[in-house]
Amino acid sequence: MSKVILLGAGGLAREALDSIEACQRAGQDIEPIGFIDADAALWGQEINGLPVLGGLEWFDAAPGRREIPLIAAIGSPRSRQHMVREALRRGLRFISLIHPAAHISSWARLGTGVVVMSSTVVENRAVLGDFVVVNALCMVAHDVRIGAFCTLAPGALLAGGTRLCEGVDFGIGAATRQGVTIGSGAVIGGQAMIVEDVPANAVVVGVPGRVMRYMTPAWEEE
Ligand SMILES: CC(C)(COP(=O)(O)OP(=O)(O)OC[C@H]1O[C@@H](n2cnc3c(N)ncnc32)[C@H](O)[C@@H]1OP(=O)(O)O)[C@@H](O)C(=O)NCCC(=O)NCCS
Repeated sequence: MSKVILLGAGGLAREALDSIEACQRAGQDIEPIGFIDADAALWGQEINGLPVLGGLEWFDAAPGRREIPLIAAIGSPRSRQHMVREALRRGLRFISLIHPAAHISSWARLGTGVVVMSSTVVENRAVLGDFVVVNALCMVAHDVRIGAFCTLAPGALLAGGTRLCEGVDFGIGAATRQGVTIGSGAVIGGQAMIVEDVPANAVVVGVPGRVMRYMTPAWEEE
């Protein structure tokens, strides 16, 4: 079996585990062996029957461990970017996790280390950048471009041609008008309707979406 380790041991990682089980039921060769998390209080604990192996240092302790790929299963774009950068610095590698009940157009393009959960639809010529997380029940319409490290919460609806720059945290049940651009590091509140471009690092809520405040520190570009 092809072993894999989840980076993160929170709610998203447990959901990713469910997706891995669905992949196994669909006949994929994949075997999760545990979680890696920065929180030392979790090390040694068992979650859903699998151990929290330790922090990224775990990979240094024995030869061969570095060969086991990671799945980036941390919900927050900022925390995920931080941990993925650390992992890449150590020479670790990532694979993508696509739930078998997600519909991905054969004309869509997916980057490295992407996670796509159940019942999501990714349409024609949509582009998902590296380490993007798309939760369950999302709609990514034709020609949408999603930058690296963005997270779509469950039920997000991105209309055709929407552009998300890097590290956008797109809230539960929020939606966009076709063609809008959302700046890097922006946070879109749950159920917001985005009808015009959003500046970088803005926190936007409401229908229509309005800037409520700005994130500090600002998103750090790759
Ligand atoms: C937008 C958001 C990031 C704001 O968080 P915050 O800065 O901690 O905001 P607060 O909870 O302090 O609320 C500030 C104000 O905004 C309002 N508000 C918060 N979220 C809102 C939303 N989604 N839509 C409309 N108003 C919202 C609050 O009612 C409050 O209003 P008040 O000042 O009149 O009392 C957050 O509420 C949110 O919607 N996050 C998305 C969560 C999500 O998608 N989770 C998915 C996990 S899988």
